[in-house]
Amino acid sequence: MAALCALACDLPIKDPPPAEVELEDPPLDPRTLFETQARPELALSCQGCHSREQDTVKPFLVEGREYESIVAYEMGRFLTPRPEQSILLTKGVHMGPALTEGQYQKVLAWLQVEVATRGVSAASSPSTPSVAVRAGDFYISLEGLVGDPLSKITFKLEPRHAGIYRLSELRISAGPVTGIKIKNPILILYSINGARRDPADSLSGVELTLQPQQSATLGTGTVLLTNVPQNARLGLAFQIISQVNPKPLEMFQCKDFALFDARVRPTLQAPCSTLCHGMGAADPRAAQAFGAFDMTQARSTDPAVLRQFCLRTLGRVNLADPARSVLILQATPAEAGGTTNHPYKLPQHMTFAQNVVQWAAAEK
Ligand code: HEC
Repeated sequence: MAALCALACDLPIKDPPPAEVELEDPPLDPRTLFETQARPELALSCQGCHSREQDTVKPFLVEGREYESIVAYEMGRFLTPRPEQSILLTKGVHMGPALTEGQYQKVLAWLQVEVATRGVSAASSPSTPSVAVRAGDFYISLEGLVGDPLSKITFKLEPRHAGIYRLSELRISAGPVTGIKIKNPILILYSINGARRDPADSLSGVELTLQPQQSATLGTGTVLLTNVPQNARLGLAFQIISQVNPKPLEMFQCKDFALFDARVRPTLQAPCSTLCHGMGAADPRAAQAFGAFDMTQARSTDPAVLRQFCLRTLGRVNLADPARSVLILQATPAEAGGTTNHPYKLPQHMTFAQNVVQWAAAEK
């Protein structure tokens, strides 16, 4: 299953922030948080010894492979369900120093996000990709959790007061590949200070089963989010999420793959995948772009892979209103009606939009 090709796209249709407010999505994926928050502190105080073996303790801050070595240490020993119980935080003074209070908070914040994202925490799935919290209509793919590129969660966010957002029209939709069973969805807020569950646990008790292509409102569809930190991101996890009557993914294809392949894929291959959204892209925001929409498949020469990529791209197309597809809006400058948060805009955005709209018409 293409379980790692998790997708997240946000789609602010109404009330986008004024164009001069150039918001960038806060980079809060686990790896980026490790690199920006935790690694500098651990390098300063711990790496001198822990880049190498200490007594029986295997190296967990290997030079150049800090992230890989610390998450893999003793099969994930540091990634405890309750991050504050991780021995990385509780070790205290030994032959090495204890973490200072400031260092402790930064390492804790990273561990919380790492654990919430992986779903190591008791009784929860890995989390969905996250979206930046701001006014708008949002789309989160469930492909990574159920393996259907056209399954998704959609909702609307409106700011109410400082730190308070109203989440509404919260719906889950199954794609054609599989039905979905869920139990107890959990809203997770990410910030530079870590990951935290919605304290009201507003969706606990929600339990439903969808057949392929069905959709349903989650709970009442409305949740008030309080104490939302600045520059937060929102994702979901589930106590249970599973497939119902899945069919093989190979059974499903775009209706007009040839048009997609000729008109849309080339742009996704370059510049999109080479600059940022693909394996090996050098941009510092690549980890985030990758998490939002991994377009590495656009470079493939294998027809089966390209067909699958077509379907995954279709997940970002709004067939009811193709011009408002997130695929187009992210690449369109704000002054031409696109999103403000996406840091890159296509020079040829009008041609790209026309091509996507033409393809979408063939997919209806
Ligand atoms: C002067 C060398 C030195 C420095 C610096 C050092 N340590 Fe250690 N650390 C050791 C040695 C030696 C051991 C093994 C003996 C022990 O467990 O106390 C160890 C063990 C550990 C363990 C136990 C791992 C396990 O699986 O039980 C943790 C966690 C740890 N260190 C964290 C840290 C952190 C966090 C820092 C930085 C704040 C740090 N260390 C800095 C020498 C060091």
